[in-house]
Parts: sequence; C-alpha cells; structure tokens
Amino acid sequence: MTDDFERMWTDLTPVGRSAASGGYFRQPYRGAERELRSWFLEQATARGLRVESDPAGNVVAWWAPPGVSGPGVLTGSHLDSVLDGGAYDGPLGVVSALAAVDVLRSRGFVPARPIGVSVFVEEEGSRFGLACLGSRLAAGVVPWRDALALTDRDGISFEDALSSAGLGAETYEPWDLAATVDCFVELHVEQGRDLVDRGAAVGVASEIWPHGRYRFDFTGAANHAGSTRMEDRHDPMLTYAMTALAANKQARLAGQRATFGRVEVAPNGTNAIPSRVTAWLDARCSTDAGLASLVEAIGGQATDRAGRDGTSLRVTAESVSASVAFDASMAARLAADHEGGDWPVIPTQAGHDAGILSAAGVPTAMLFVRNPTGVSHSPEEHASMPDCLVGVSALADTLERLAR
Ligand code: HGY
Ligand code: MN
Ligand code: MN
Repeated sequence: MTDDFERMWTDLTPVGRSAASGGYFRQPYRGAERELRSWFLEQATARGLRVESDPAGNVVAWWAPPGVSGPGVLTGSHLDSVLDGGAYDGPLGVVSALAAVDVLRSRGFVPARPIGVSVFVEEEGSRFGLACLGSRLAAGVVPWRDALALTDRDGISFEDALSSAGLGAETYEPWDLAATVDCFVELHVEQGRDLVDRGAAVGVASEIWPHGRYRFDFTGAANHAGSTRMEDRHDPMLTYAMTALAANKQARLAGQRATFGRVEVAPNGTNAIPSRVTAWLDARCSTDAGLASLVEAIGGQATDRAGRDGTSLRVTAESVSASVAFDASMAARLAADHEGGDWPVIPTQAGHDAGILSAAGVPTAMLFVRNPTGVSHSPEEHASMPDCLVGVSALADTLERLAR
C-alpha cells in the first residue's frame, strides 16, 4: 500500500506548484487542474473502475464487481486548490481513496455495494466565487443557468470555461443521489491543530461551522492625492480600512472568525484617491444565527463609517453554507473500536463537499488526517507520510465497514 500511495503522491507533487512560493495554483479548468484530472482518469482506468463524468466535470470512478449494484459508498474529495495553496487540501482525499481501493483489493475484500471515488470540481470557489460549485450542482442546489453566468476575475464565464475544457451542456441533470449514493465519506487533511494537540493521527468530523463570503463594494470619489484637501475627500479606502478593523474586532468579541483576504482597488494608482474599493469578507461562526448577526454587525459599522466618509457601500452575499451536523450515529460507528482506541470526533470551521452532500440528505462522514503545522490554504500545509498511510488504512477500514 505504501508504494501505491507514495507513487501517486509523487506523481502529483510537481503539478501546479509555484517555484517561488512552493504553493499550488490548481484553479478549475486551467492547466494544472486539468492535468490532475487526466491523471485521475488514468489511475481509475488502470484499476478497471467505471468512470462517469457530468457536464460540469465532476467525476466518479466506480468499483462494482460483477453482480454488485445499487446505491454505493462514495468517497473522494477535490483536486482544485486555493491560490498559492497547500498540497494536501483536496488531493489527499482523492489519492487516499484510490489507495484504499487498492488496500481492500489486496485484502481480498469484495464489496457488497459499489464503491465510488469522486472528484468534485471547484470546491474552493477560487475561480468562480461559489464554494463547492461542483458538489452544489450535483446536489441540485444551484441552478445550472445561474452557475453558467458566474464569471472569474478575467470576466470569463463558467459557461465559456466549461466549453474551453470540452465540457458544458444546455441543461444539467443533478445527480440522482438517492438512487446512486448510499453514503459519502471524505478524507481530508485537518485544517487546524486539534489532532496535533490530541496526539491522534486520524479523527472524524462532528460538524462544519456555517460560513459565507460577502462582497463589499465601497464607492467614493476619485481625486488628486495631492491637491485634494483631507477634509474634502470621499475616500473608499478609509471606509474599507475601518471595516477590516471592525470585522476583526467583532469576530474576536464574538469568538468567531472574520477575514478580508481579497481586495481590489480602482483605479489602483499611487497618486490618486481611489474611486472604488471592492473587498471580500469570509465569515464563519459556530451557529447560523451567529453568522447572520456577525455579518450584520460588520455591515452596520461599515455603513456608519461610509456616512462619515461620504462614501457608499453595497454588501452582496456571494456564497453561504449553512451549518452541517454530520450523522452522529455514523460518526460514532466509524470512530469506534480501532486499534489504539476510538478516533476523536471533532468540529471543523472549513467547508467541504461532504457538507453539501450531507445537507442534501446523504448520510455523510469525514475522516481527518493530522496536520502537524495546523496551517492550511498556505504552502505550509502538511501531513507526514506515516500519517497519510494511517489515513489510507483508516479509510480502507471505513469503506469495508460501510460496503460489506
Ligand atoms: O474554504 C474552506 O472552508 C474550504 O477549505 N474550502
Ligand atoms: Mn480548502
Ligand atoms: Mn478542501
């Protein structure tokens, strides 16, 4: 098993990696991510798995021995990354799923239900702004026409990106999850330090915090940086700057999370007061109500400040994911009775395709693999090879429990 996993991991390591930062740029329907997809299709075909793909490019490779049919056990994750992301977020779940199939076959296990390895596209929403776009389409929770109209930072529509990748269609049929998927298990690198602090290599997810992405458009009055008196300015940069500080303060006070990680300034000149600043807030809370009130508090303070700056503000929710409580009995069943004791059951503040499928009614679980740095969405993200191999065995054991 070790060689299979290590060989596959070595295959992927250089794909989309920046020589400058060591981080990954695997945006959907672009070079590196397309290379990863082709690699996945080759691996699936080499294993004799039956590959199904939909017009968005979501893929499932099924292992269904003769006479085995009906709703299957789905596992897998995503291959796309955030900008300058880590190596593990996504691909670890896909490579571990392929390696787990190899392990089960080497054990002589024959599943009583099909086992599918899935790759959902655009999980990060790093290009088209909507998190888990692929799994939301598969679950039928985002209309195809709305998705096609999404555009990236270069103004390229999702529709055009699909057609340039040889994908796309007039209409899109959401997956018949009830008929094809009995349950879903996603293995993922932990994006935090909980397993490190517990000294555990593997954990099971209890819940995903609700979270959302909100576009803040601050509009002011462009003017000369020198000849415009300070008291005569309507500077959207000031309104934005105060909003970023307010978001940080509100989140700290409420024990929640708020980040402005992306800002665009127009015209972005050194010697001109900007006409517009657009910034994206990523907010995350332990409850849905908490998320709504955090965003409202930040928006309220931003609006007050806009009044004082003589600027204007528009806030648009671009991607919102409600809280997910994973099937507790399934989590307990997967976490129990392992060599070395039960696996810890822990929450996450990171969104996942597993959250979308769970919300769509599919019994779903997540396995986490220890990340010694606790860092994610960064080149610093890491999982040791021994822990990755423990993760593969854990996933194989889990699939065996679910598919027997
Ligand atoms: O952004 C997230 O929560 C996830 O890593 N896509
Ligand atoms: Mn991520
Ligand atoms: Mn992920």
